[in-house]
Amino acid sequence: MPEARVRGRVFSGMQPSGEAHLGNYLGALRQWVDLQHDHECFFCIVDEHAITGEFTPEELPGRIFDLAVSFLAVGLDPERSTIFVQSDVPEHTTLAWLFNAVTPLGDLERMTQYKDKSSRLESVPAGLLNYPILQTADILLYRASLVPVGEDQVQHLELSREIARRWNGRFGDFFPEPQPILSKAGRILGLDGNAKMSKSLGNTVGILADPEEVHARVRTAVTDPQRVRKSDPGRPEVCNVYTLHRHFTGPTLLPDIADQCRAATRGCVDCKHILSDHIVEHFAEARERAAELQARPSQVQEVLEAGAERARAEARATMEEVRHRMGMAWRECVPSRSGRA
Ligand code: TRP
Repeated sequence: MPEARVRGRVFSGMQPSGEAHLGNYLGALRQWVDLQHDHECFFCIVDEHAITGEFTPEELPGRIFDLAVSFLAVGLDPERSTIFVQSDVPEHTTLAWLFNAVTPLGDLERMTQYKDKSSRLESVPAGLLNYPILQTADILLYRASLVPVGEDQVQHLELSREIARRWNGRFGDFFPEPQPILSKAGRILGLDGNAKMSKSLGNTVGILADPEEVHARVRTAVTDPQRVRKSDPGRPEVCNVYTLHRHFTGPTLLPDIADQCRAATRGCVDCKHILSDHIVEHFAEARERAAELQARPSQVQEVLEAGAERARAEARATMEEVRHRMGMAWRECVPSRSGRA
């Protein structure tokens, strides 16, 4: 992938929906962990985006903490990456407001995610419309040029580039035009086999779930609907359980999974059991690390505090330049006595 060799800064964000699930892992986290070895990375828990959806003040802190645990458990490394919570860096919302000045309303209204989400609501919060502006601010605050995301975010990133272009056109070249890095996993479907894996749909498997729970969850997964009886041949290419096998069952065993499905020599129940065994095994180390972190929550807090500190320093520097270019650094034109040379 050519992008990986362009050593730009990396930024990505994830909404705090609690413990990460397989979709978060395959679609994002796994790639984030790899990127941190040869890129300067910023990984952000975007609580200010989360409030545009359903949330309660009582559960939000727990969702933030649990996602941070998942980040660290799968191997995001605070020595290599800046890991932090969005609302700890107030400049995100400041820059978002300034970007409001160069963002065409029509572009926001065209966003598929906005159209989708708003169509299901009686009263649409303005935050849902402005969501991509905040996302742009997240990225450009750190002048990041590479953004690992899922396909559903490609349109938002196009808008980010448009905002960067318009701002640069008006106030001078300063921001890069951020490019997506798409995960090879593509869209990860939930256990229902027809919608994106997502907490709000209840079709997830948590990456830190204990073995019994993983088995119980995977057992509910929908398989090839044409395979009604065990003796019916199955079609691995349409079966979501097989898609998950591709990620968790090694290349030596994988052909056997497909062959036995087609030949109807192994039933779906057994096939799912093999899958859940492999999922359990894959996350064994992560579960251990998570248990350690949960026993010492202050460690997680320290990581997030240190991350916010680093992020704030970057954010402050960017905002100083932005204010200057947008004409808000009025002190610069007050002669002497202003306390500034
Ligand atoms: N909108 C992204 C999502 O739902 C989350 C996000 C917020 C993000 N800010 C970002 C992703 C900045 C990449 C960069 O997945």
